[in-house]
Amino acid sequence: MKNIPLKSYAIPLVIIGSLLSSQTVMAEPHPGKVLHDDNNCLRCHVDKPYNPSKTDSFPKLIKSVRFCNENLGIGLFDDEIEELADYLNQTYYQHPK
Ligand code: HEC
Repeated sequence: MKNIPLKSYAIPLVIIGSLLSSQTVMAEPHPGKVLHDDNNCLRCHVDKPYNPSKTDSFPKLIKSVRFCNENLGIGLFDDEIEELADYLNQTYYQHPK
């Protein structure tokens, strides 16, 4: 009897052990939301919610934000007013720009 050795082929197991389980892309808040929260706009506007039919275009929205900013001495810069208006537009108004 002849002993025929069984050739065993090692099958390499490629184990990808270090899959990045989560790509930690933090959802950054809208910079305008931060301004909105920091400046407590809702202290008044929770009772008078933002009204898209009253402020019926994006330029008017910028004006309204500027109006409150100036009258209340909030002291936002122009670029902050635009960020804030953009946030309000995304969240409440949805006017085309
Ligand atoms: C002291 C109260 C008060 C605070 C604080 C305030 N507002 Fe106003 N806001 C008003 C009043 C009063 C009006 C005019 C509202 C009206 O005619 O109904 C107005 C109007 C607006 C409008 C137009 C409203 C609409 O219905 O479309 C926007 C937008 C607005 N404010 C944004 C802001 C933002 C942004 C802030 C924070 C930076 C802010 N307001 C803080 C009182 C306030």
